[in-house]
Amino acid sequence: MHRRLIPSLRGIFGLARSALLSCTLALAVAGCSDEPLRVSQREDVDLAAAERCVRQTYWAHGDRGDPHMHPGRDCVGCHARSARGPLFTVAGTVFNAPHEVDDCLGHDGAVQIEVTDDTGRPVTIVANAVGNFFTTHAFRYPLRRVRVLGPRAGAVAEMGSPPPHGDCNACHSRAGTLTPTGTSPGRIVAPR
Ligand code: HEC
Ligand code: HEC
Repeated sequence: MHRRLIPSLRGIFGLARSALLSCTLALAVAGCSDEPLRVSQREDVDLAAAERCVRQTYWAHGDRGDPHMHPGRDCVGCHARSARGPLFTVAGTVFNAPHEVDDCLGHDGAVQIEVTDDTGRPVTIVANAVGNFFTTHAFRYPLRRVRVLGPRAGAVAEMGSPPPHGDCNACHSRAGTLTPTGTSPGRIVAPR
């Protein structure tokens, strides 16, 4: 994977506007710092060779408000931009494979997302039948830790750094993203 080391200029400067997540936008809902947080899509992943959708079933109801809507897409950002839909503090999708496409139904096991905020108390969110998870819980920032638990007892995946905000899918896109805290591997995948 030699290309990983030489991301294009477009990747570095995040010129793809849709890939920019302004932390100012997320401030109200995610409570992150006021610094603009630039996230750009990775271009070093061979998406043509990647599994597109393990369940081969897709969300097909557009923007109809529903807990199962748009797995993989930017829940917090769309709800904030459109001023419709709940203002989640943490939301995202757990998938079956690392590079599944947007709107592909995600993992349907009993996966839990455990978010520990500055109080030190973990808050557990249960992902639903398409892998979507979301909460409006009033966290105290900064967030300190995030882990994904299950479905098998003892299976854990932990993010190596504290998440700067709770808009998980903004960084865990299909390809993954270049972020100020590192390179996201793509989707959040249920730990085995
Ligand atoms: C492209 C925009 C968009 C994206 C992406 C999006 N939503 Fe929504 N969502 C909406 C809109 C618009 C509404 C309000 C719909 C309405 O008023 O009928 C909504 C409403 C909801 C509701 C409330 C449903 C109800 O019963 O009232 C939930 C829950 C929800 N979204 C979850 C999510 C989750 C989880 C994600 C990410 C996996 C997500 N949404 C991604 C646009 C979006
Ligand atoms: C600002 C971007 C960003 C946000 C927001 C973000 N992540 Fe991450 N995530 C990353 C990066 C970068 C990595 C890889 C480096 C690391 O672990 O710190 C990662 C890694 C992970 C991993 C480990 C993956 C593996 O293969 O071991 C998990 C699990 C994870 N994130 C879950 C989440 C969840 C759940 C949320 C939402 C609460 C979230 N992330 C929000 C950027 C982000």
